[in-house]
Amino acid sequence: MRRKLIAGNWKMNGSMAALVELDAIATAATRSPGVDVAVAVPATLIAPATARAPTLAIGAQDVHHGDCGAHTGCVSAAMVREVGARFSLVGHSERRADQAESDAHVRDKATAARRAGLDVILCVGETSEERDAGRAEAVVTAQLAASLPDDAAGPWLSVAYEPIWAIGTGRTPTTADVAAMHGALRARLRDLLGVEAEAIRLLYGGSVNDANAGELLGAGDVDGALVGGASLTAAKFVPIIEAAARLG
Ligand code: PGA
Repeated sequence: MRRKLIAGNWKMNGSMAALVELDAIATAATRSPGVDVAVAVPATLIAPATARAPTLAIGAQDVHHGDCGAHTGCVSAAMVREVGARFSLVGHSERRADQAESDAHVRDKATAARRAGLDVILCVGETSEERDAGRAEAVVTAQLAASLPDDAAGPWLSVAYEPIWAIGTGRTPTTADVAAMHGALRARLRDLLGVEAEAIRLLYGGSVNDANAGELLGAGDVDGALVGGASLTAAKFVPIIEAAARLG
C-alpha cells in the first residue's frame, strides 16, 4: 500500500551552516527504510543540501509554471531539478496568500513540475472562518479539484492537507477532523481519477511535532506529514520520522 512520507518544509529559513542538521535526518531516513523522507529547502540551498545528503530527497518549495523566459526573479522546475531537487511543493497557503496564487496557477505549477521530472506535494487547506462556517470540506475539496495537475496519479503526487489556522500556531485539528477531511479528499480523488486515486498520498500538515506525530499519523487515511517548524532541526524532525516508522 502507500508508504508513509515525512516531508520537511524549511520555508525562508536555513543557511549553509544549518545543513549540518541534514546529517542526522539522513541517518534516520536510512534507519527507517519503510518511510520516505524529504526536505524542501530554500532554492539557494538545493545544490549544497543535495551534495551534503545525497541519499535524502531534497526539494524546492515552489517553481514557476513556465520552463524559461522573461520572468525576473523566478526559478523553473527544470532549474531546480538540474541542481538536485527531486520534488517541489506547490500551492502552499503562504504562497497562495502572499503571492496571490490561484488554483489555476497552482495547477499549472504542478503540471510544470511533473513535466520536469519532479515529484509534487500539492497543498490545500481552509481558513478558520471557513471551518467555523462549516465549509471546510467543501472549500478544500474544491481547491483540490481545481489545482490537480494534468495526469494526476501516485506515487509521484502527494496532497498535503494543511488547515491554515494550524500552521505555525501550535493548534491542530482533532484526529477525527483530520480523518474526516482525508476521507473527503480521497473520495474526491476517486471521483476525479478512479483507480489512480489509490496511490496518491494524503499528508497532514500544521503544527506537527514529536508529541503529536504518532496520533496524527495514525489517523484514518493519513499517509504522512508536511512539517514546518519542527523540520528545522534533526532533534525535532527525527522523532517524527521514527513515529512514522513505528506505524509502518
Ligand atoms: P508548521 O508548518 O509545521 O510550522 O505548522 C507546516 C507548513 O506550513 O507546511
